[in-house]
Amino acid sequence: MEVKKFGVIGAGQMGNGIVQVAATSGLDVLMSDIKEEFTAKGFQTIEKNLNRSVEKGKINSSDRDAILSRISTTTDLQDMAGMDYVVEAAVEREDLKFQIFRDLDTFCPPHTILGTNTSSIPIGRIAAQTKRPEKVIGFHFMNPVPVMKLVEVIRGLATDDETFQTTWDLCFTFGKTPAEANDFPGFIANRILMPMINEAVFCLYQSVGKAEDIDTVMRLGMNHPMGPLALADLIGLDTCLAIMETLYDGFKDSKYRPCPLLRKYVEAGWLGRKTGKGFYQY
Ligand code: CAA
Repeated sequence: MEVKKFGVIGAGQMGNGIVQVAATSGLDVLMSDIKEEFTAKGFQTIEKNLNRSVEKGKINSSDRDAILSRISTTTDLQDMAGMDYVVEAAVEREDLKFQIFRDLDTFCPPHTILGTNTSSIPIGRIAAQTKRPEKVIGFHFMNPVPVMKLVEVIRGLATDDETFQTTWDLCFTFGKTPAEANDFPGFIANRILMPMINEAVFCLYQSVGKAEDIDTVMRLGMNHPMGPLALADLIGLDTCLAIMETLYDGFKDSKYRPCPLLRKYVEAGWLGRKTGKGFYQY
């Protein structure tokens, strides 16, 4: 299926990144969020990223202007009615995502594909909120979206081949490389990544090492571009906790229990870079 009009729900760090790559690839993109200040902040982030690319000579200023001119914003979800493809990148809360999918299913025409950037909520559970489960799919980008090459494409039980193929092809249009995963808690990326991060938090909790030393071990010993605690701060500790809870609930296996220290930080509002404090101070 040809996608001309592309909608993104959520203007936060994942949402505005997806908008940037989609608009850069030549699509007209509509970015929505619940408040105008959120869409304005998302748009400013994209502008800042593109300005940096102009300064580095990667694109010229007319490319930047053309990309920005393809982006429009709204706070009314009903405006998604004109889209061929909508991807939801709202915060990782099941009740919120369920409501968004019920609304999108009502507003969008039957041909519209509904993707979700969920990092771990089962696609089947989200799809069941709609009357078009065959058109619902996991479209999972990595943070920071403009930089990371991978997109995880997750088939729900009911996802049809056209929905899968359209999503798979869009990854290449966006200059990304897709990997196919099936619908199990955490899919592939977070099934592997999050227990590693959680174990790093346990190392801190049990005083096996200080945050800097834990991260140095993984950066220099395993050649990871950043240590697990710094990465947790980048992802957001609330998101990390939500993913661990999904793994724990989904498998009922104690190996996925979230570290109490992770929960304590989240309860204190220490969510990482976005709040200025997590395992490090920003
Ligand atoms: N937005 C846009 N561009 C960004 C960016 C951002 N937030 N952060 C960095 N960049 C760009 C920089 O501008 C720079 O671009 P150029 O190459 O054109 O100069 C490039 O990325 C490299 O940045 P830096 O030189 O500042 O820093 P770095 O080399 O240390 O790279 C990094 C930063 C890309 C974040 C790197 O440390 C990295 O790859 N870290 C691991 C990230 C990761 O694992 N992400 C996956 C998280 S899991 C996830 O997202 C899934 C989930 O469900 C939780």
